Amino acid sequence: MSDMLKYPRLTDLEKKAKRRIPPFMFAYLDAGTGRDFAKDANEVAYREISLTPQFLRGRVAADTSTTLLGKVYGAPFGVAPIGLSSTIWPGAEQILARAAKAHNFPYALSTVAGDSIERVSKVGGDITWFQLYPPADRDMCLDMMRRARECGVDTLVVTADVPAPSRRERMRLSGGPVGSRGKSMYTPRVIMQSMSRPEWALRLLANGGPRFRNIEPYSDRFGGMGVTEFIGSQLNGGLDWDYLDIIRDRWPGKLLLKGILHGQDAERAARAGVDGLVISNHGGRQLDAAPHPLHQLPHIRAVVGNKMPLIVDSGIRSGLDVAKAIASGADFVLIGRSFLYAVAALGKRGGEHAATVLIEELQDVMRQLGVASIDGLSDVPVTRASSRTL
Ligand SMILES: Cc1cc2nc3c(=O)[nH]c(=O)nc-3n(C[C@H](O)[C@H](O)[C@H](O)COP(=O)(O)O)c2cc1C
Repeated sequence: MSDMLKYPRLTDLEKKAKRRIPPFMFAYLDAGTGRDFAKDANEVAYREISLTPQFLRGRVAADTSTTLLGKVYGAPFGVAPIGLSSTIWPGAEQILARAAKAHNFPYALSTVAGDSIERVSKVGGDITWFQLYPPADRDMCLDMMRRARECGVDTLVVTADVPAPSRRERMRLSGGPVGSRGKSMYTPRVIMQSMSRPEWALRLLANGGPRFRNIEPYSDRFGGMGVTEFIGSQLNGGLDWDYLDIIRDRWPGKLLLKGILHGQDAERAARAGVDGLVISNHGGRQLDAAPHPLHQLPHIRAVVGNKMPLIVDSGIRSGLDVAKAIASGADFVLIGRSFLYAVAALGKRGGEHAATVLIEELQDVMRQLGVASIDGLSDVPVTRASSRTL
């Protein structure tokens, strides 16, 4: 049976992903923080939105292409940066970059991905974005920017919303290697769980274990630390407005600031010369009381006007959710977990399957609404459950 008959929705793949990767790895991918209030609310926010269709417009073509920062993309969504993607499923970065390239939507490679910007940009070409967690070592930061630029990357995504690591309670409960500074990652529970998923374990071994290929070239700076410890020491909370100014000054391409929720920060970012914002609560993984990005969007739009694109993420699981975000005022969206569930569940086929499902769903919604273009989605009347007339 084809994947499309078995898994017509991306949510159909979550259970399969859970069976194919060790419990601690599934917890890493799936969890929010605290009691998952923010993570759960992210999805509820989408459920509560209604879109009012207008019929008698005939059958529309449903063109999903859109322009972002002067570039035409085939769809109004991209793959959000996900750290450790190749540990979730070995090869995930290249699988997703290939699917993104085939459908012409962006793929954002995380600083702490398993694969490197050099290797991934060869597959993704001009749709490859690079996400930067600015390291404490500013020379290293500039060097990573140089590497991204030399790989032809035009869009840098600077992540602002990880001022410190969150507690990752579900990772702890699942036995995962959290906060294992100085201790071995390979506890008996990690080994047992890994052995219970032999395909994953063998593929990971073939990939050289958990890798951080963007960071490995700086091993001369590790000073006796292991790579994860070095990352912990470098990548937490180093970003402030002065540092952002330096990055803006030195990055000649497009600059997106990711993880903005407050109007004042949006206003300041606009003054600092960033080209666009990603309104995000990091998928509910940092602050369990963070508001939903769509709830912050009207205020942020009022502050920055139409000067810059506002990209939204957190909680998007379908093409319908993509349409809802755009109808609510977003210019573009990013999707994190759903792409990785698909790759964990289907391996090499996962990227292409996720892309096809999302595009088919979005086109279906556009036809049901009678909207021919992505721009047209912003005119669709949006109702929230609390204000719905019953
Ligand atoms: C497992 C995991 C790892 C992530 N790693 C990063 C990262 O390295 N850099 C970053 O900017 N955001 C990271 N994020 C946040 C995502 O880029 C994105 O904001 C979030 O996943 C969107 O929510 P969604 O998963 O509900 O789509 C991560 C999210 C998850 C689930």
